[in-house]
Amino acid sequence: MKMTPITLMVGATLVMLSVILGNIIMPAQVFHPKPTPNTIMYTRDELEGRQIYIKNGCLYCHSQDTRDMDWGMGSGLAAQPGDYAFDSPEALGSSRNGPDLMHEAGYHPDDWHWAHFENPRYTRPQSFMPSFSYIKGEDRRKLIAYIQCLGGIDGRKRAEQQRALKNILVQYYQKSPADNLAYLNSTLPSAWLALPNPVPVTKGSVERGRVLYVAYCAGCHGEHGDGRGPSKPFLNPPPMDFTLVQASGADPAAPQANPQPGYHYDYARNQVSDITNGAIYYVVLYGIPGSAMPQFKGQLESEKIWDVGNYVGWAFMGWKMEPYSGRYEELTRRPWEHTWERGQSHLASANLPAALSALGPSASHRRFGVASSAYQRRKKSIRR
Ligand code: HEC
Ligand code: HEC
Repeated sequence: MKMTPITLMVGATLVMLSVILGNIIMPAQVFHPKPTPNTIMYTRDELEGRQIYIKNGCLYCHSQDTRDMDWGMGSGLAAQPGDYAFDSPEALGSSRNGPDLMHEAGYHPDDWHWAHFENPRYTRPQSFMPSFSYIKGEDRRKLIAYIQCLGGIDGRKRAEQQRALKNILVQYYQKSPADNLAYLNSTLPSAWLALPNPVPVTKGSVERGRVLYVAYCAGCHGEHGDGRGPSKPFLNPPPMDFTLVQASGADPAAPQANPQPGYHYDYARNQVSDITNGAIYYVVLYGIPGSAMPQFKGQLESEKIWDVGNYVGWAFMGWKMEPYSGRYEELTRRPWEHTWERGQSHLASANLPAALSALGPSASHRRFGVASSAYQRRKKSIRR
């Protein structure tokens, strides 16, 4: 056959049509996966929310297609074809500039999403997701309804749990700051409340914590720790006001003499009586379900969480700065080593018996003694 322009055109069109037939039309006619047990039909609001999601190009950045290799990242089960049995057309997206949203429902409560869509920097100061503040009122509610159904029946359950817990939190928040804190503490494992602060409140720790606070917490708890970050108007209960210690007007030395609702500073333990760094650690690690307070376990390592807790305590709640003893010591000190230091201060006042009893059963200097003589031996052997 002679290759005239017409032949080429016809040939190319046929090739294109067969590709469209094989890849788009045939699958659409033939591939009808059965819904998985976790799949459920959309409600009207959720469907309308889905339209808003597609119209605003959310899928250019967010996939909804968890692959098996993402399992390790805590993203839940991998996507199954049946999960999208009620989607028409499927709009999974393949781009991963933002997190995969397949299991997003219930990961945050509704109020977090209200603030986040207004401006993602409010809840995540370093986010590059654009602001969708022009999606207002009913439209934003529907968009959130859609987000809160991603993850099927399990996802909806999580979102429901968030709503139920929120009601409880709001009740306690409305009672008084002290009731609120007592309730929040009652939800934490008691071992964490009693945990001595393993990272002393030194200049270095506080400075490292400050950087983290600005990058992760300030959008909610505010620059001044008073809970008046830009996202406050959207959140209920609002972010905790750490400065209530001062605002309570209580006499910290004798709280009984001037009992005020609020938190009271405990000089002996260098902490506010009810907010220990252990409690802060736990809350930052796992978040407070029902409130906008998110979990940071995927973003902050252990050391950073202690540092940010020290900053919050020092900057907003009156914790005292402790002397700097070297970064290595700071991170490796154990609770009994605090005991040892207390013993040292007794020594300084020449009260030997008290110093010895304060040293306790596992005085750390003995350990270091062993380590250092082993070190001396090694040094000698190298010299030889
Ligand atoms: C330019 C890319 C981009 C676009 C467009 C975008 N996002 Fe995002 N999105 C991100 C990034 C990055 C994050 C992670 C940081 C954050 O939470 O803001 C994110 C986070 C989120 C989260 C929170 C996920 C979590 O951590 O639980 C939700 C929900 C979300 N986006 C929904 C949407 C919706 C709905 C739209 C459309 C209206 C949208 N996004 C458009 C990039 C984008
Ligand atoms: C999206 C908003 C948001 C962000 C970001 C946020 N928080 Fe919170 N946080 C809250 C809310 C809301 C509460 C109050 C919950 C309540 O009162 O029921 C809270 C409560 C707390 C509490 C009190 C918990 C208790 O049991 O006493 C601490 C401590 C805390 N946040 C620390 C932090 C730290 C540190 C960061 C940054 C690493 C941070 N938060 C980031 C919203 C946020």
